[in-house]
Amino acid sequence: MDVFEDARRLMFQNRRVTDGNEYTVPSGEHYPYQWLWDSCFHAIVLAGFDPEYGKNEIRSLLSRQFKNGMVPHIIYWVPGALHQFNWGVEGTSSITQPPMLAYAVEQLHRTSPDTGFLEEVYPALASYYKFLIEKRDPLGRNLIAIINPDESGEDNSPRFDAPLGVMPSISYGDHLELRKKLAERNGPRVATVESTAPHTFWVFDVLFNAVLVENLRALRNIAHSIKHEEGERYAKTHSDLIRKAMRESLWHNNTYWSLNGENDKPLMTYTWAQFVMPLFAGLYSQEEAESVVKGELMNPESFYGEWGLRTVSKKELSYQSDSYASDGFSWRGPSWMVPHWFMYRGLMRYGFHAEADKIRDKSVRLLENAGFRECFNPESGIGHGAHGFTWGALILDMQNNQFSDQANNDKNVLTSF
Ligand code: GLC
Repeated sequence: MDVFEDARRLMFQNRRVTDGNEYTVPSGEHYPYQWLWDSCFHAIVLAGFDPEYGKNEIRSLLSRQFKNGMVPHIIYWVPGALHQFNWGVEGTSSITQPPMLAYAVEQLHRTSPDTGFLEEVYPALASYYKFLIEKRDPLGRNLIAIINPDESGEDNSPRFDAPLGVMPSISYGDHLELRKKLAERNGPRVATVESTAPHTFWVFDVLFNAVLVENLRALRNIAHSIKHEEGERYAKTHSDLIRKAMRESLWHNNTYWSLNGENDKPLMTYTWAQFVMPLFAGLYSQEEAESVVKGELMNPESFYGEWGLRTVSKKELSYQSDSYASDGFSWRGPSWMVPHWFMYRGLMRYGFHAEADKIRDKSVRLLENAGFRECFNPESGIGHGAHGFTWGALILDMQNNQFSDQANNDKNVLTSF
């Protein structure tokens, strides 16, 4: 059995073309549309063996960008599709997802240099990041707010229980209803913090802001490649400002915690994103990174499960190894491939090569054991949720040494504040 070959095959199986728009569905049976950050991961994987398709996937994603710059988190390409994942606005959802777009475009350009493609997509990318910076920073403190848990990509993570006002025991179905209502309240007008009145949910999320810092770094490189000096300056300025604001407002007791925008309270739940995402975005000093990697991420009593990274620390009361409900997935403990990939990249960035190898090997073992499932029990390795789920294909990227070297070249970690 060759899971790498299976991964490539799955990427072909999940390809779709609607009205000339090419994209990849995360799972044919379960997720038959185009999702924002999934498409970015697809492009990162495709960069390794089919960059032209990766470029088209990005083009399809950008083709439904809103006038105000927002890129929606789902495009319901299939006519008549039920919008069971949040309410839509003319064929799309009305919220966004972690902005991995510039990173994906940069990755495509690395493996298949194409300045024409950069020039083509740059205006759309720039307007998306400008939207986030201008419309999602309600207090002008250089921290970007999400207005629905789904915008974090971790739809039912327990770190959002307090801002949602729910108990950890809430059922998957009730939780989903609540999130849909939130999206519905935004209505067809879309999804700026100003338009979300009264505010019922806004969170300065570590995952989203870390992704933004790293993507503004990528956007700056793209602007540089096409000699767009003003764009280069803008991306650098805001990447620095957000990085600094994260340290000033989100950093307590040696950890970055997401912040509830309603009451300014840190959301002190031990979820993977609090620890992995600053590693991915280079927000730790080397010493801090070492302490997080040893003390939390590679610690079997915290995040490091026998079969995979727990998305919630074992120390948390809300940790559930097997919380995949019959009707849904869960970010309350099970392992997912995207956190593995972010961790792999973060470990490489800080030079933890042996640990990075371990995460890659765990990922391969999980897929060999359970197949390309949506998520996995970190204690038993049993797979849950969707079948034929594309996130497992990220092992192709983890396997590719070229990218590892690149991660090293990008080493640009925090040295001081
Ligand atoms: C689930 C995940 C989300 C992903 C979507 C499609 O909702 O939580 O992050 O984008 O599935 O794969």
